[in-house]
Amino acid sequence: MVSPQATLIDPFGRSINYLRLSVTDRCNLRCTYCMAEEMTFLPKQQILSLEELRDAATAFVELGVRKIRLTGGEPLIRRDILKLVSSLAALPGLDELTMTTNGVLLPTMAQPLKEAGIARLNISIDSLKADRFKQLTRVGELDQVLQGVRAAKAAGFAKIKLNAVILAGFNDDEVLDLTRFAVDNGLDISFIEEMPLGEISSHRRHDTQITSGHIREQLAAEYQLLDSTETTGGPSRYVQVANSDSKIGFISPISNNFCDSCNRVRMTAEGRLLLCLGNEHSLDLREILRTWPGDSERLKRHIIQAIGDKPERHYFDPEQVDIVRFMNMTGG
Ligand code: GTP
Ligand code: 5AD
Ligand code: SF4
Repeated sequence: MVSPQATLIDPFGRSINYLRLSVTDRCNLRCTYCMAEEMTFLPKQQILSLEELRDAATAFVELGVRKIRLTGGEPLIRRDILKLVSSLAALPGLDELTMTTNGVLLPTMAQPLKEAGIARLNISIDSLKADRFKQLTRVGELDQVLQGVRAAKAAGFAKIKLNAVILAGFNDDEVLDLTRFAVDNGLDISFIEEMPLGEISSHRRHDTQITSGHIREQLAAEYQLLDSTETTGGPSRYVQVANSDSKIGFISPISNNFCDSCNRVRMTAEGRLLLCLGNEHSLDLREILRTWPGDSERLKRHIIQAIGDKPERHYFDPEQVDIVRFMNMTGG
């Protein structure tokens, strides 16, 4: 029997207390840096059911996970997502249930999500120009996302963070506008360096690389940035914008490796436990969930064993796609 005190510590002494749970690989957008134009999505029977997702999450929480972030694809297009949120929010021992969404469905979903138990929300928005937003997402309407942000504010989430992937030559001229939008609305914002996950056709990732350092220089010309030690338990390094409620985060998987403080693992929508975003190594938890339904002891033993294989760090080379998996499989 797994000891009730068992926790997840990897071979490098890192304590794993954060699970990113992808609930679908499908999405209502097609962001160019995330997906190929034509994507094949997983057949339904390969996706974990709500019960399987809940059983897996329960095992992780019993092993010391304190924060779960629901991701996709786009988590809000998963049918019965509110049911899942309610059941996870009720797990004893879970401190925080959060979600990363593209915001398109928030106009109707923000309030019910808050009521079902989502504490904080991260909303992806890479441009405030409607034509550019359409180009980047291939199908998206900026207005829907802006309405989604308004609905999320009205719903009263403890904190809302915007996420922007910045691509040189495409939206790097919007760093200040995006920040102003965040500050004016009392939101946080994180700028993310693009990662070479999956083969895309819209651009060469090497040509669009821009570092967090570069973005910070642009911001420092306009805002007084105060170093902050605050952490949300994610990879963002934060600065506080003076005289405002907003923090700016920098997620720098290319220019500044943050793996030594990594506290997380991911589960894909088909139940693959990924020990690192930048490595292919994974464990098939679906097989265990489906062969021995309800056997949480067995599941926990396998999870503990898998953590023993967590790699020390990722190595990304924008010249080369080492990871064939697209981001929509893992939700970031
Ligand atoms: P909070 O800190 O809770 O706000 O969440 P977060 O910033 O971890 O979550 P979010 O979903 O907003 O993550 C933003 C992006 O950070 C993801 O989409 C990924 O691009 C990146 N990211 C998160 N975790 C990792 C990680 O372990 N490794 C790498 N390389 N990138 C990560
Ligand atoms: N590199 C960096 N971030 C990415 N995202 C999707 N694909 C990539 C990539 N290749 C981000 C989205 C969203 C989060 C879920 O992942 O913009 O904020
Ligand atoms: Fe969908 Fe998010 Fe990927 Fe854009 S980045 S296509 S919103 S999963």
